[in-house]
Amino acid sequence: MKSETAWQAGRLGWRSGSQRLLFGRMYEDAEIERAAFRGKRRVFCIASAGDTALRLADEHEVVACDINPVQLAYAERRANGGPAETGDAERAMRFARRMMPLAGWHARVLREFLAMSDVAAQATFWREHFDTWRFRAGFDLLMSAPVLRMMYAREFLSFLPRKFGAVMRKRLERGFARHANAANPYARALLLGESGEEISAKKENISFVAGDAASWLESREEKYFDGFTLSNILDGADEAYRARLMRAVQRAATDEAILVLRSFGEPSQSVENNRAECDRAMLWGVVDVRGARTFFA
Ligand SMILES: C[S@@+](CC[C@H](N)C(=O)[O-])C[C@H]1O[C@@H](n2cnc3c(N)ncnc32)[C@H](O)[C@@H]1O
Repeated sequence: MKSETAWQAGRLGWRSGSQRLLFGRMYEDAEIERAAFRGKRRVFCIASAGDTALRLADEHEVVACDINPVQLAYAERRANGGPAETGDAERAMRFARRMMPLAGWHARVLREFLAMSDVAAQATFWREHFDTWRFRAGFDLLMSAPVLRMMYAREFLSFLPRKFGAVMRKRLERGFARHANAANPYARALLLGESGEEISAKKENISFVAGDAASWLESREEKYFDGFTLSNILDGADEAYRARLMRAVQRAATDEAILVLRSFGEPSQSVENNRAECDRAMLWGVVDVRGARTFFA
């Protein structure tokens, strides 16, 4: 059976063309991985913009893999001290942020909010200043299927829950009620588009490899990796690819290996240990942290 992933195209939209830089930074809280992989040695990581690989390199030997050569080259440049660049995800977020004043979200209020540390006060502030009917209507329109279909390939949308706008608003509300803004770089990236702080890392601990994660893992030694962090690469892949990746992870995993897998979808019952609430990026429906060899369950 053919197994496919839409990420192969290196583009988020439905138009064909050359592969592009999609992510100038990552929107995944690497503290999840740092906690999950404590005491582990070898980690297989999706490269994306490189943030997670760089954060893990302090304590682990990291293989950072990406199917999109443009993205992989950027992650490698960053590891060598290169500057942050703008990807298509940042362009889309910048466009959404331009709408903020229409919803009454002004720079002064945003900065006041982002300086807060008391999460109960943040929750109140969110309700009083941001969760306005204009925000709800505008955000839900932006996140509606017809608008998303204009920008993204169908494979990146098929798994999203109905009323995705309302679901995402709930995730944000939950996140702001849990994580102190002043210490949350992901909140600043989301609301102001600020690129993260420089990450100084033991870059010599990272090997960058180009290719599809399943194919690469299939070709390597068995029982080699103690940790896997696969971003949300299954958002955009078909069932056959999912099954193939699961087999490849199981084969490459040591008995005690841990797997971290994210999704923008809502959690199914098979997700036992969903850490989505703990992820300071606040966007995820699923941050599944589990034994890599139980990935079939
Ligand atoms: C899944 S995307 C999502 C971005 C992510 N949520 C973030 O915050 O950076 C991350 C990266 O995974 C890569 N990717 C997707 N599917 C892959 C696969 N099967 N094998 C290797 N890399 C893959 C994409 O090229 C992209 O650079």
